[in-house]
Amino acid sequence: MNKKVILDVDTGVDDALGLLLAIRSGELDILGITTVNGNVSVEQATSNTCKILQLAGAEHIPVVQGAGKPILRSTYFEHRVHGKDGLGGALNDMTQRKQPEDGHAVDFIIDQVRKHPGEITLIMTAPMTNLALAIMKYPELVQKVKEVIVMGGVVQGFGNVTPTAEYNIYVDPEAAKHIFWAGFASIKLVGLDVTRKALLREEHIDSLGDTEIARYVRASTADYLQRYQERNGVRACAMHDPLAVGVAINPDLVKTRHYYVDVETRSELCDGQTVCDFQNRLSVKPNVHVCLEVEADEFINLFTRVLRG
Ligand code: BDR
Ligand code: CA
Repeated sequence: MNKKVILDVDTGVDDALGLLLAIRSGELDILGITTVNGNVSVEQATSNTCKILQLAGAEHIPVVQGAGKPILRSTYFEHRVHGKDGLGGALNDMTQRKQPEDGHAVDFIIDQVRKHPGEITLIMTAPMTNLALAIMKYPELVQKVKEVIVMGGVVQGFGNVTPTAEYNIYVDPEAAKHIFWAGFASIKLVGLDVTRKALLREEHIDSLGDTEIARYVRASTADYLQRYQERNGVRACAMHDPLAVGVAINPDLVKTRHYYVDVETRSELCDGQTVCDFQNRLSVKPNVHVCLEVEADEFINLFTRVLRG
């Protein structure tokens, strides 16, 4: 039986690739997709998500819109990375047919978890405002979720929005802190430590052929490849969000260690930093399975195989 999942997204370039992987793999039972502000406004994230489902021929999957801003802070969009619309302009000409469901993402998550206690894996590839609000509204949720897979944070390297913080955690650090402290049975952190090794290069994109999806991937990643090269010296698309989906499909893609991880929320320089207590100096029980190694080639093979169909 396929793993039941909900994806929580702020659909930018890599969220969209994660969605395509999740849908096209046929290995996940996608109960719904919830949207949140992040890379773009929540309205734009919802529209992008609906269009991606149209592209993938998966309009039956419910999309439910969520929080329009972080719990305490202001929005912090990433147009510089994902373009004005969040998808590098690739679907500007597509007319949006699919519409989101009525209701709020927070209630959708709660309802689904109550309906399938102990069965749902939450794949979080955006600031985690929706999940934090869901826990505040319905604290029992924590015991009823099977696993939370978080694309976020970095524990051994540098940040991608400040010198120390990764974007998803930085945008809503209070939400991330709340989630890390909540007591979930399993939180897996798919951070920049591993996602920066999962690089989609032009030759991989070329290997997708000339289908509608391949053309979309090429168009949506074009500017991203350029910007990544300017900053990192490699012409590639870092597969942050798709790797979190990959880990849901095949947990053996990564090696994890169980550590106490917390989030800095009161620092001028280090706000949003994920602090990992490698030597248990704080004597606090481990709460997060941190991904430290990745089978990057195997993951890229999975991604290209699935998208080739
Ligand atoms: C994360 O930040 C966003 O810009 C990406 O979509 C990804 O979820 C990477 O730090
Ligand atoms: Ca994202």
